Amino acid sequence: STTTPVSLSSEPAELGDPAERRPAPRRFLMCRPDHFDVTYAINPWMDIGAPVDRARAVSQWEALCAVYRRHGHQVDLIDGVPGLPDMVFAANGGLVIGDRALSARFATPERAAEGPAYHAWMAGRGLGRVLAAAEFNEGEGDFAVAGDRILAGAGFRSTRSAHREVERYFGRQVVSLDLVDPRFYHLDTALMVLGDTIAYYPAAFSDDSVRLLARLYPDAVLASADDAEVLGLNGVCDGYHVFLSDRAVRLAGQLRERGYHPVGVDLSELLKSGGGVKCCTLEWHGYPRG
Ligand code: ARG
Repeated sequence: STTTPVSLSSEPAELGDPAERRPAPRRFLMCRPDHFDVTYAINPWMDIGAPVDRARAVSQWEALCAVYRRHGHQVDLIDGVPGLPDMVFAANGGLVIGDRALSARFATPERAAEGPAYHAWMAGRGLGRVLAAAEFNEGEGDFAVAGDRILAGAGFRSTRSAHREVERYFGRQVVSLDLVDPRFYHLDTALMVLGDTIAYYPAAFSDDSVRLLARLYPDAVLASADDAEVLGLNGVCDGYHVFLSDRAVRLAGQLRERGYHPVGVDLSELLKSGGGVKCCTLEWHGYPRG
């Protein structure tokens, strides 16, 4: 085979230069699924009759953790709590930016006790300020840090008043988006930040929100229904690698075309609870390693 021809024409400015994508080390918080199960149904993915293989969930989760570490990312761990089967979805535990953390206030009673558990963990990190959210707020499930702004989902779990609370607390612009499909109940099931742009599934959002996203991100990657339905958008990008479901084949191709390097991960057991790669990962944005 011949070498790939190098294009001399420059990319349109808003697409960025794919050749310049670089991974930057991230710091993540994860929770081993030692108590994972599907004992209640709070989203359409959850079927309490379907058997869950916890040992398999643990080994899939361990593989994700190992993949992050192999790619140079730091992973901190929080202990799971018996009786809180969804605690593995650390993204929902809150939002951490710089020296500030806001711990979650879960919308469903089944997960309510996770808020204080994540709060206690954050409070023990020596952060400048750790606040418990007053409004219903499911952390990075519904809040995506995208450069200087924060994209926020409402409609199923976090509320618009939570968006305002986040805006005040972190002093950053929060862009509210309405989720309309119960299968995509958290923003991170339908939208993924890719450094300078995003990928999303338009059908998960209201018409107004789609118009807003199209205006803010004219160069966004639009995911197909097939990829969205395997939670392919529930991924994590480090600036170059995109860790995502190995089932989101077409999305992986779209990302490759844009100069990203998709890394497929199998979390099929956790998908039974409606969670994927991003759900398992709470990022400490702009926080030093150590
Ligand atoms: N079973 C969990 C719930 O319904 C899944 C949470 C997935 N987390 C996420 N960030 N989308 O709350």
